[in-house]
Amino acid sequence: MTPAAPDPAPDAPDASVPPVIRVALLGAGTVGSEVLRLIREHNGDLAHRIGARLEVVGVAVRDIGRDRGPHVDPALLTTDAEGLVTRADLVVEVMGGIEPARSLILSAMESGASVVTANKALLAQDGTSLYEAADRHGVDLSFEAAVAGAIPLIRPIRESLAGDRIQRVMGIVNGTTNFVLDAMTRTGAEQAEVVARAQELGYAEADPTADVEGYDAAAKASILASLAFHTRVGLGDVHREGITAVTSDDIAAARRMGRTIKLLSIVERIVDGQEERVSARVYPALIPDSHPLASVSEAYNAVFVEAEAAGSLMFYGQGAGGTPTASAVLGDVVGVARLRVNGGYGPRESHYAELPIAGIGDLRTQFYLALTVEDRPGVLADVAGCLSSHGISISTIHQQPLTDGEDQGERAVIGIATHRSREQSMTVALDELSARPAVLSIDSVLRLEGE
Ligand code: NDP
Ligand code: HSE
Repeated sequence: MTPAAPDPAPDAPDASVPPVIRVALLGAGTVGSEVLRLIREHNGDLAHRIGARLEVVGVAVRDIGRDRGPHVDPALLTTDAEGLVTRADLVVEVMGGIEPARSLILSAMESGASVVTANKALLAQDGTSLYEAADRHGVDLSFEAAVAGAIPLIRPIRESLAGDRIQRVMGIVNGTTNFVLDAMTRTGAEQAEVVARAQELGYAEADPTADVEGYDAAAKASILASLAFHTRVGLGDVHREGITAVTSDDIAAARRMGRTIKLLSIVERIVDGQEERVSARVYPALIPDSHPLASVSEAYNAVFVEAEAAGSLMFYGQGAGGTPTASAVLGDVVGVARLRVNGGYGPRESHYAELPIAGIGDLRTQFYLALTVEDRPGVLADVAGCLSSHGISISTIHQQPLTDGEDQGERAVIGIATHRSREQSMTVALDELSARPAVLSIDSVLRLEGE
């Protein structure tokens, strides 16, 4: 006779009831509302992929009375974000900013919830304390959407290339500035006009400072450098120059040289004999028209990753926008939820290498300079002599007489491209040049990249 199955223990889970992952959303704006839509539309599929059903238990917003369309159930809205995060297994932070996002993430972790965030500003400023809290409370922290929107980049660097040695990551990680520079290149318009148009189209924020001054790209560079080089690279370690100084004259000069101006985020392993350092920098640079990044148009992003064994990898796609960014957020939600169901943890912070940070002055870069000078004999020789006295070698030079009647024959604009030279030497040379009576103004100092 077959023995009867023992009665289940009174506290054992009922195997016929699929487990539920309670999800709390912090924010229902551009990204959050699309995350809610995708969860609603695909919850059946997601449940199969995760092995548990996602149940949205609340959505924290500032204004509870605002109509948020058909995908946001008004009954889920709350202004009690602090209370909400204690009722979830997984918190999706898409509210942005530093506070209260940071405190809410820390509270969520303390309550045992894993966190998915798209908040690059917070990660760049405070990533270390968030990672430490995740470790302390045994939860996960995922942030694929924080860099380059929909483009899978964090996971490839953190996981797929974990066995390789990354040398350099270089790319366009800010869509707004790419839209602006691309439009300036296509139309010849000045930047202010193009930024106004980008604002009308919803590409640029009402206050575009974070994008045009390079803060957004610098935050992303800090995240990429930390992951790529297993070193804590803070926002303050990233050299940052935005695009506000780029003029239509620079764009025209770049075109004459067969180049395009792009705002680049570059993070690099600098090897000098036995010594290794990390460089992280953001600046507008002239790249050859033949370089794949030159053809990245509108608000698209593209990133090159160079690794010792893998060689060069290129990632391209939509770096912003509610729906593309929500795709990356949901990828993380599924990943973290699976870990909740199956047990185990995702990757933790890896900063064992702790490489020193290279200052911008120590790097060797090629420059493009535009100077307005007196148009008389000996001036060019004087400028060349000054550069040469600092070990800076000129590769090409182009003189353009001014066309306005009054100054014609009195002033000229010279465009100089240099060979690779030390940044510090260029800083000193520029100081000296600006003191020369024949140098009326230094109009542009830009780098050349992508050779
Ligand atoms: P939005 O400004 O569109 O939405 C922010 C949401 O958060 C709103 O619903 C807002 O409430 C809510 N919120 C803000 N502050 C609070 C607060 N103190 N308490 C409660 N709720 C609050 O931002 P996005 O969706 O554009 O961006 C969200 C995050 O995603 C940011 O970190 C951003 O950097 C990142 N990101 C955005 C991308 C994009 O293309 N938009 C791309 C990649 C990343 P209310 O609606 O009531 O005002
Ligand atoms: N402001 C950012 C951009 C949004 O323009 O790329 C995506 O992080």
